[in-house]
Amino acid sequence: MTSLSAVLKRNAQSAQEIVAYSTATNPTVGIFVGGTSGIGENTAYAFAKYTPYPRIHIVGRNADAGKRILEKLQTINPNTHATFHRHDMTLIREADAFSKNVLEQEKKVNLLFLSTGFLKLAGRTETVEGIDDRMAINYYSRWRVVENLLPLIEKAAENKENARIVSVLGPGNEGPVNMNDLDLKHNYSLLNSNRHFTEFNSLAVVRFAQLYPKIGFLHAGPGIVKTNITRDFPWYIRLAAQPLMFFATRPEDAGERFFYISQGSPDYRTGSHTITGSFKSLKEKSIERGYLTPELQETVWNHTEDMFKAALAKSNK
Ligand SMILES: NC(=O)c1ccc[n+]([C@@H]2O[C@H](COP(=O)([O-])OP(=O)(O)OC[C@H]3O[C@@H](n4cnc5c(N)ncnc54)[C@H](OP(=O)(O)O)[C@@H]3O)[C@@H](O)[C@H]2O)c1
Repeated sequence: MTSLSAVLKRNAQSAQEIVAYSTATNPTVGIFVGGTSGIGENTAYAFAKYTPYPRIHIVGRNADAGKRILEKLQTINPNTHATFHRHDMTLIREADAFSKNVLEQEKKVNLLFLSTGFLKLAGRTETVEGIDDRMAINYYSRWRVVENLLPLIEKAAENKENARIVSVLGPGNEGPVNMNDLDLKHNYSLLNSNRHFTEFNSLAVVRFAQLYPKIGFLHAGPGIVKTNITRDFPWYIRLAAQPLMFFATRPEDAGERFFYISQGSPDYRTGSHTITGSFKSLKEKSIERGYLTPELQETVWNHTEDMFKAALAKSNK
């Protein structure tokens, strides 16, 4: 396990490297989808801390949190130009609306950081676009934004700057998926949906890294981080989870660790990586078990494109 002090040292060193290309006329752009709380919020703070001229986009629904975070980013680095975007990212049309805004405002993107999520015990809950909301927030809308913004991330890579996409979730939970019911319309359970969206994120990371060899693609688990992710659980479950918090990472330390993989460490500059919160690679085991085959990558991505089309058709009705 890479210690926090080693992470801090490397992050500080990376600031000396980023200074070579992060200037007032060429700011470094970080997008934090799910940046209004927890891991996304704290990684955005680290981004502002180590980047001389950051342009930061924070996406979430909570406008009060957005306002508070923009103010804090300014105190961390007065050169920060930050914008809050209010969107419900369970919807593909909202992912498109946000992407359109970024495509109009930015010439390149150095980091696309995806950490939207919520926990709940209820079963399949379809959005107006016909996708289960947990599957949408953890996979479909995340990768819709990736697909839309890839041209801007490629631009950063062509400039030989950091160009990475990080999806924060739970590698290690990959496994066989229901090939006849990929979006789990008929076979939904919390376990099945966890396995499907975890597997889909890892497949997408591997697939896109082959198509875009100059960009780093990561599916990264956080371990246990003391955030508000359990906010929608009943009080007795939150109480039962309290002992786990004893072992939890502080959000600000998680921010440093996620900045390390997102920009600080050169190890993740290109290629595909599925890693734990202590940076242990899980990809080899998933490949060995047959969970990341090229056939699966294509089948699941074709399914994903079909879901985008169907969702938007429903949205436009
Ligand atoms: N914390 C942990 O120990 C842990 C462990 C394993 C995996 N994870 C995963 O890591 C990711 C980040 O977790 P975290 O601990 O940072 O959680 P968090 O503090 O609860 O942050 C979740 C973020 O998702 C956003 N979000 C939720 N629903 C949304 C929606 N419909 N539209 C737009 N944004 C939405 C929230 O923003 P708004 O409320 O403003 O909408 C918030 O910014 C999650 O996917 C989580 O499942 C966390």
